[in-house]
Amino acid sequence: MTKANSSIFRFAIIFMLILEIRIQLSEESELLVDRSKMDLTHVPKDLSLKTTILDVSQNSISELQASDILSLSKLRILILSYNRIQYLDISVFKFNQELEYLDLSHNNLSKISCHPTVNLKHLDLSFNGFEVLPICKEFGNMSQLDFLGLSATLLQKSSVLPIAHLNINKVLLVLGEHYGQKEDPESLQDLNTKSLHIVFPTRKEFDFVLDVAASTAVSLELSNIKYVPDDNEYSYFINVLLKLQKNPRLLNLTLNNIETTWNSFIKILQLVWHTTIEYFSISNVKLTGELDHEYFNYSGTSLKALSIHQVFSDAFRFQQGYVYNIFSNMKIQNLTVTGTRMLHMLCPLHISPLVYLNFSNNLLTDVVFKNCTSLTALKTLILQMNQLKELANIIYMTKDMKSLQQLDISQNSLRYENEGNCFWTKSLLILNMSSNILTDSVFRCLPPSVAVLDLHNNRIVSIPKDVTSLEALEELNVAFNHLTDLPGCGTFSRLSVLIIDYNLVSHPSADFLYSCQKIRSIKAGNNPFQCSCEIREFIKSISQISSEMVKGWPESYKCAYPESYKGTPLQDFHISQLSCNTTLLIITIGVTVLVLVVTVTFLCICLDLPWYLRMICQWTQTRYRARNTPLEELQRNLQFHAFISYSGHDSAWVKSELLPNLEKEDIRICLHERNFVPGKSIVENIINFIEKSYKTIFVLSPNFVQSEWCHYELYFAHHKLFQDASDNLILILLEPIPQYSIPSNYHKLKTLMAQRTFLEWPKEKNKHGLFWANLRATINIKLIEQNK
Ligand SMILES: *[C@@H]1O[C@H](CO)[C@@H](O)[C@H](O)[C@H]1NC(C)=O
Ligand SMILES: *[C@@H]1O[C@H](CO)[C@@H](O)[C@H](O)[C@H]1NC(C)=O
Ligand SMILES: *[C@@H]1O[C@H](CO)[C@@H](O)[C@H](O)[C@H]1NC(C)=O
Ligand SMILES: *[C@@H]1O[C@H](CO)[C@@H](O)[C@H](O)[C@H]1NC(C)=O
Ligand SMILES: *[C@@H]1O[C@H](CO)[C@@H](O)[C@H](O)[C@H]1NC(C)=O
Ligand SMILES: *[C@@H]1O[C@H](CO)[C@@H](O)[C@H](O)[C@H]1NC(C)=O
Ligand SMILES: *[C@@H]1O[C@H](CO)[C@@H](O)[C@H](O)[C@H]1NC(C)=O
Ligand SMILES: *[C@@H]1O[C@H](CO)[C@@H](O)[C@H](O)[C@H]1NC(C)=O
Repeated sequence: MTKANSSIFRFAIIFMLILEIRIQLSEESELLVDRSKMDLTHVPKDLSLKTTILDVSQNSISELQASDILSLSKLRILILSYNRIQYLDISVFKFNQELEYLDLSHNNLSKISCHPTVNLKHLDLSFNGFEVLPICKEFGNMSQLDFLGLSATLLQKSSVLPIAHLNINKVLLVLGEHYGQKEDPESLQDLNTKSLHIVFPTRKEFDFVLDVAASTAVSLELSNIKYVPDDNEYSYFINVLLKLQKNPRLLNLTLNNIETTWNSFIKILQLVWHTTIEYFSISNVKLTGELDHEYFNYSGTSLKALSIHQVFSDAFRFQQGYVYNIFSNMKIQNLTVTGTRMLHMLCPLHISPLVYLNFSNNLLTDVVFKNCTSLTALKTLILQMNQLKELANIIYMTKDMKSLQQLDISQNSLRYENEGNCFWTKSLLILNMSSNILTDSVFRCLPPSVAVLDLHNNRIVSIPKDVTSLEALEELNVAFNHLTDLPGCGTFSRLSVLIIDYNLVSHPSADFLYSCQKIRSIKAGNNPFQCSCEIREFIKSISQISSEMVKGWPESYKCAYPESYKGTPLQDFHISQLSCNTTLLIITIGVTVLVLVVTVTFLCICLDLPWYLRMICQWTQTRYRARNTPLEELQRNLQFHAFISYSGHDSAWVKSELLPNLEKEDIRICLHERNFVPGKSIVENIINFIEKSYKTIFVLSPNFVQSEWCHYELYFAHHKLFQDASDNLILILLEPIPQYSIPSNYHKLKTLMAQRTFLEWPKEKNKHGLFWANLRATINIKLIEQNK
């Protein structure tokens, strides 16, 4: 047995044992401590007292003492394989009452001291340096022993006696490299086990006389058989096999690691053929030499199943047809030939009872079983990992396999191009075409009754809507293809399992779940989902069904686009109703605009918004100008903030409103009735005071225009300089002046009115505050005191 094989076996046993213990003691929790491959020379001291499983395999431990494991009273499984222990005193385990599983294989043990132990179920002492079988008489009390691994270089019938009364399930017996000097053929006679595995020394040519069938075993496994005979030489191994014929108990025979000739190989087959063995398995075979065409006697066999795995042949220097012929005409139920470089297999000559054929990992081509009408009982055909190329040929091959239910043609190079008649056998239920190079066209011809269809890892871009209806299809695997959407269930109405992960599905349609009423399980993760509005329906429908149905949810369902959502689980992707619904969006925008328009209209009509805006605008301009005018220049020669000109008819307003509101803020106002110098002409006075004032305010009303404006027209006519500096003019429109009432020669007034650069006196009281503030801001400037 190879190292890898034995460790796989070991782990399988441990796993099963753990599982069994778990079930028995589901309340108690296991504590597994793995210290394997750590170069330890001793069992570590720092272990938890609750440790139930301890793995210290593959270290350099050379000694095991009671103190090492004394405190681990809960220890159930101890794995010490692949260390350097030479001596073991079984009494070291006397405080580990729970210990059930002890693996000491692959050490250098040559001696053990015995001590009563009763609870062990699994004891492995194989692959050690024992000379005689390490069987203490105390082993006889281990009534629960299920597995016993032994090793020895000398077998004696008496050594087995202490355990002869036990019903062991499996015994592994490893014969040391020096085995064979003094053989007692009957030494295993008293071994009471259901299954016996004998490992012969590796280096030696098989020259043993041990009666391997002497025990009670129903199942026998022999490893390491090197048997390359010269012609007519006495054959020890054939002799050993001949003894099998005398043991009618034997049902299973497994041969491992065989090195022999083609002729001997066929001879072995023929020998086993005539025994009571029902299951014959051969693996890791190295064959040399040529093959003579000898007659194979098919009569009288018990064989039901033959398995041949991993055959290495240096060269085929003979017609292989002969070998294929032997296998194809065996009247057995199950035939497995895998990992050989077999190129072909012949069609059985007569109706064959073969039910199961497993030819995976060979070199079979499309012509295998072509036109073969004798495989009518065949239910399962496995052609995985071969050299199949054209699916049409395989479809045609199944034509006459009336019972075929399961076909595995995965891991070939199959494509389907030529469209001919669709010959699939009607009986096919499970079809595995995964890992080929099939495209969408494969859906044009599928077996009508197929229930499980595996098409993963192909080149399918879309599932055509018009595929032949697959009413029986329950399970569809199209993972690892190039699909961009989930299929609808129109054509496969009974679909209950869909596997479509690792595709290019970006916008999965939500109606999938509605169209597939029978769906029980869907696996659609690891697709590049586009997280936008379209995916919301899908997320919604997925989260509505139970999470057990959605395999891999939520961890393998993530956004791939847009960049901002990359890696976000679909479960956490939320987008507002508004941004997805165009109608809703348009309505919302419409309503918003409408509300805005109504508000603005309301503000304009009822609250005179334009007036306020104008006011604010002027204020801003004033501020701006004030900042940009060199102040000092202005301040020179100024005595007043403003000179006010108005008509006598408006004097009431000026005195009751204007003056109080301006002067309370320390603004100096010049009024002609207060400040005019008597004896000068009105125009002289006006010009004089305008020049001493920072601003000139005209209170405009129809009266003013009629009675007073003429004085200023003159002034404006003479002082062109001021015409450009209309900055200094402030017009307050006290009452509206109709355009017609302005005399046609008042050009300046018309211009000013047209420019609308006046402040309107608001009728509403609540606007007065802003009006005054604005006015004050316009004329407020710090006057230099000495100019007073
Ligand atoms: C195994 O033990 C023997 C003595 O029993 C010793 O001679 C030998 O060196 C040991 N081998 C290893 C690999 O420790
Ligand atoms: C072990 O078995 C022997 C008989 O083989 C019996 O006399 C003895 O009492 C047993 N010991 C225990 C501890 O069961
Ligand atoms: C014999 O082999 C068959 C098929 O591998 C298996 O099902 C059966 O359990 C084996 N019997 C024994 C006793 O190991
Ligand atoms: C074939 O085998 C059967 C059973 O072992 C035997 O009776 C018969 O004689 C054999 N036939 C030939 C031609 O050897
Ligand atoms: C043949 O193989 C199939 C599938 O592994 C199995 O179900 C069946 O029991 C086998 N038949 C016999 C006779 O071992
Ligand atoms: C076919 O045989 C191989 C090799 O023994 C095995 O790994 C595989 O599971 C078998 N396939 C089936 C479908 O039984
Ligand atoms: C299979 O049968 C067809 C027609 O029956 C024939 O043309 C073809 O040559 C046959 N192929 C083989 C490999 O026997
Ligand atoms: C199809 O075969 C592949 C191996 O090629 C295997 O992994 C897969 O489980 C099989 N599918 C089914 C449905 O048995």
